Amino acid sequence: MNADLVVVGSGFYGLTVAQRCAEELGLEVLVVDRRSHIGGNAYSEFEPETGVEVHRYGAHLFHTSNERVWQHVNRFTSFTSYVHKVYSTYKGEVYPLPINLGTINQFFRAAHGPDAARALVAELAGEIETSEASNLEEKAISLIGRPLYEAFIKDYTAKQWQTDPRDLPAEVISRLPVRYTYDNRYFNDTHEGLPTKGYTAWLENLADHPKITVQLDTDFLDLSQPLNKRDVVGQVPVIYTGPVDEYFDNVEGALSWRTLDFEQEVLPTRDFQGCPVMNYAGDEVPYTRIHEFRHFHPEREAQHSQDKTVIMREFSRFAEKGDEPYYPVNTAEDRARLLAYRDLAKGETGTIFGGRLGTYKYLDMHMAIGAALSTFDNKLVPHFSKGEPLV
Ligand code: FDA
Repeated sequence: MNADLVVVGSGFYGLTVAQRCAEELGLEVLVVDRRSHIGGNAYSEFEPETGVEVHRYGAHLFHTSNERVWQHVNRFTSFTSYVHKVYSTYKGEVYPLPINLGTINQFFRAAHGPDAARALVAELAGEIETSEASNLEEKAISLIGRPLYEAFIKDYTAKQWQTDPRDLPAEVISRLPVRYTYDNRYFNDTHEGLPTKGYTAWLENLADHPKITVQLDTDFLDLSQPLNKRDVVGQVPVIYTGPVDEYFDNVEGALSWRTLDFEQEVLPTRDFQGCPVMNYAGDEVPYTRIHEFRHFHPEREAQHSQDKTVIMREFSRFAEKGDEPYYPVNTAEDRARLLAYRDLAKGETGTIFGGRLGTYKYLDMHMAIGAALSTFDNKLVPHFSKGEPLV
């Protein structure tokens, strides 16, 4: 093996580290991934019948207020001016989200100004003291009041968690933002947009360096493969972005995750729902939301089919063995296990655990990229330029 560094996982974390090490340090980097495509969960592909870019692992919207990350990502892609907005269907009516003055006035059939709406929500939320909330339902009511909770949070949360909100811990939500303006822009970040040529083109640009080799369909933990953990660790520095529990053969028990099932369908109409994301707040349908991907790229309308569209219904459930891990459940048991895995990871000199799976943390793309840049600065540069141990 002719590599100075092995990166396990070609998601944003792994590819960002690989690119920096190849360009700045001149290292030969070998990136392996067990999937048959690069890019991790941000991977996208153009659906052939409609010409629409579909995000295979769920909708990915890029947003950041981190100037360093924004400067960095702009080296590898340009961004459209897309601004994310979400709507929610509840009892046959469509409301704007996040809950804002438009949502409140439509829901209460009122014409409140900001002060009156704030007073109304405060009065309704007064039913329960936040500090006394003993479960998610009580916490949510203490923040936004029962009527808005029952409409927009209750059944949606139950579908997400397959659990009655009264049986979920209050800590699952820390705040429920309500905007007392008509602004329904979903993200508050300084920068937002979608990669002009798509996610896969962006990820391929990251890997496009003569010193980076990408090897797909290679599971680093499969000891029957020619390139695997047993033969590599200790010989060459490793950046591991797969699941931390799997790396240690689940010796401390498996960490729990929620996963998503996606049902993709091409429909014989140009426009199915008129917006990119429609949440379904009630329990009359089992899915949480429907994505209609053409609306992410209105600037591509000329290349999209004019009589077909592609939609994706999203269903949420607890992950079982073999499912894709998406969101950490993070129970008290998970947290105890994670601490045990962190101790084991400390003993694994020469291997750095990173990314969302390697750290058991939900990371947005800009966070994964920012974390990879910090690992490069704080660990890889000192190791490769000054000979400091890699820990
Ligand atoms: P990522 O999971 O992308 O990559 C890890 C890679 O490691 C995978 O390719 C995997 O195959 C590989 N791997 C694992 N084990 C291996 C092994 N043993 N051997 C070889 N390879 C192995 N973020 C955002 O900013 N805006 C958004 O809108 C969304 N939306 C979104 C929706 C959904 C449903 C999810 C689950 C996540 C998002 N995200 C997001 C988050 C985004 O997906 C996340 O930030 C990145 O995937 C993180 O990149 P990583 O490289 O850490 O992991």
